[in-house]
Amino acid sequence: MNIEQWGEHKLIMSAMSDMIESMDKSSQMTKMISHVCNSGGKKIRPIMLMLSSEICGGDSKKSVDAALAIELIHSASLIHDDLLDGGLIRRGIPSAHEKFGYAAAMLCGDFLISKSIELISPFGTNAIRDFGRAGMCMAEGETCDVKSVEGTFDEGNYYECIRKKTASLFAASASIGAYIGGADDEVAGKCRLYGEHVGTAYQIVDDLLEYMHVQDDKKSTHESMTLPQIYLKHMSHEDAVKRSIEEVEKQVRYANDILGTFDPCGSTDKLVQITNHITIDMLP
Ligand code: FPP
Ligand code: MG
Repeated sequence: MNIEQWGEHKLIMSAMSDMIESMDKSSQMTKMISHVCNSGGKKIRPIMLMLSSEICGGDSKKSVDAALAIELIHSASLIHDDLLDGGLIRRGIPSAHEKFGYAAAMLCGDFLISKSIELISPFGTNAIRDFGRAGMCMAEGETCDVKSVEGTFDEGNYYECIRKKTASLFAASASIGAYIGGADDEVAGKCRLYGEHVGTAYQIVDDLLEYMHVQDDKKSTHESMTLPQIYLKHMSHEDAVKRSIEEVEKQVRYANDILGTFDPCGSTDKLVQITNHITIDMLP
């Protein structure tokens, strides 16, 4: 799968470089935004938004600003997450606060959130509501994540935490795309649930890779509780890994089952590809 060749990937990259191009080159904020936006990343969430719009009858060119809003709020959340968990390396390069300092990084996150609100604002009530709710969920989920290493944090707490901090933005990407494509609440709800399953599977995989120490493109001072660590209280390391992988496969099955209810087309096929690419294809 060569996602960089996809039309949706080219659209989001070009919208991002147009945004940076339009900013004052001499400002410190532009330098920070450039650092964050040019640090790679697969652009899965904005692509998911555009593809969800396509499977609901929309044209991805018309949803690109909403897709950029999703990518920018995602970037802001990573900057703030790195501030909270002492992230040193993100996507193989220094985190924003390592490079520019704490105050500047926090303000860069604030700028990105504000810019994302500007970008999502023309897309109507449903899109704006889902966008706002995702932001609130992420902040709540992160609050729970920060406390995950204290006291008792069980499987239920873990799922609640990752549903909010990670899956909520995937869910909003898919539902906002659906609304922009012309979907009603029922179809947008199906897309939202699809995104939630993908985001849940994605975070379990990310945590599993962290638990197994097989990630080399990021490094943090503080680590959160992971699913295999919770299972480890009741079973062996091998069983904890196996059980976590089964959970990923279950979430991916649910996600792909939802996609199966849409008429098959190039865009549903691409959604299946990105779902697998960021989840089961990443498994060790
Ligand atoms: C990464 O988790 C972090 C998140 C998925 C969400 C972070 C959310 C916030 C800081 C709230 C911000 C809210 C808004 C509206 C911007 P991780 O630390 O497990 O993953 P990592 O290994 O990639 O750091
Ligand atoms: Mg982190």
